[in-house]
Amino acid sequence: MSDIQQAVREKYGAIASSVTNASTNSGCCAPTGCGCGDPITSNLYSDAETTGLPADAVSASLGCGNPTALLALEPGQIVLDLGSGGGIDVLLSAKRVGPTGKVYGLDMTDEMLALARENQRKAGATNVEFLNGTIEAIPLPDNSVDVIISNCVINLSSDKDAVLREAFRVLKPGGRFAVSDVVVRGDVSPDIRRSMELWVGCIAGALKETEYATKLRAAGFADVEVEPWRIYKLDDARAYLAETGIDVDRLAPQVEDKFASAFVRALKPNAKSCCGPDCCA
Ligand SMILES: C[S@@+](CC[C@H](N)C(=O)[O-])C[C@H]1O[C@@H](n2cnc3c(N)ncnc32)[C@H](O)[C@@H]1O
Repeated sequence: MSDIQQAVREKYGAIASSVTNASTNSGCCAPTGCGCGDPITSNLYSDAETTGLPADAVSASLGCGNPTALLALEPGQIVLDLGSGGGIDVLLSAKRVGPTGKVYGLDMTDEMLALARENQRKAGATNVEFLNGTIEAIPLPDNSVDVIISNCVINLSSDKDAVLREAFRVLKPGGRFAVSDVVVRGDVSPDIRRSMELWVGCIAGALKETEYATKLRAAGFADVEVEPWRIYKLDDARAYLAETGIDVDRLAPQVEDKFASAFVRALKPNAKSCCGPDCCA
C-alpha cells in the first residue's frame, strides 16, 4: 500500500468511525471529508432519492455529484462503484437494477466497508456486495460489469492510469463509465494548488479536465466527456482558507473558477469487427 493510500485510508477510516459515533451519540452533523455543510458534498441528492435510505448512508455521503443520475440504469445490470464509502450510490443503484441485477461497492477502508455493510443490512438490499480492495487492482474478472460509477474518489488515487486501465478491463464491451469527480480548470499556480489542497483535503490530486480526457482515451475509452457542473467560487473557499491564515482576498482572482465538480462519462467500445485485410483489430 502506498503512502497516499495509507493516508487516505486513515482519513476515511476516521470519518467512517465518526459517522457511526455521531449516529450513536445523535450528533448534529456527522463529519464529512471537507467539513460540515461544505459546498462540495452538500445538496447532491433529491429528497425523493434519499427517502427510505438508512440515515447513516446519507450522512456518510462524501461525494461531489450524483453519478447514478448520469445515466439510465436498467434492471438486470451489473454495476461497480469505485470507492463506495458508506454505500449511498450502491444502494441507489441497487434499487434501479432490481433483484435480477447486482451492485458491487469496492473500498479499501475497513471502517467504511463495515459502515456500508451495516447500511446494506438496514436497507435490506440483497443484490449488493461490498468488496475489500483497491481501485488500482479491481478484484473482478475481465468484461464482467455493465456500468462503473464512482463519486469523488479517483482524484484520491496516486495512480490514475492504473485505475482507468482497470475500469476498462472489467467493463464489458459497450459498458459505460459514469463518474463524478473534482477537476482543475486551466492552469493553477503551484502555490494556489497547494493552498487549495488545504481547502480541498478531499480532492487533493484532482486532474485537469483535459488530462482526465486524455487518460481515459489512453486507457481505450471512446465518447469521452468531462463536464464541469458546479464551479467553486471564492465564497466557497473563503471559510476554509481563512482558517489556514491564507490571504483569501489577495488570492481571489487566481482561485475563482479554478476547481469544479464534473461529470465524467466514457464508453468501452464494442470489439472492432474486421473490415479488410489491413485493419483487423
Ligand atoms: C471521498 S470518499 C467518497 C465515498 C463515496 N463514493 C461517497 O460518495 O460517499 C472516498 C472513498 O474512497 C475510498 N478510497 C479512496 N482511495 C481508494 C483506493 N485507491 N482504493 C479503494 N478505495 C479508495 C475511501 O476509503 C473512501 O471510502
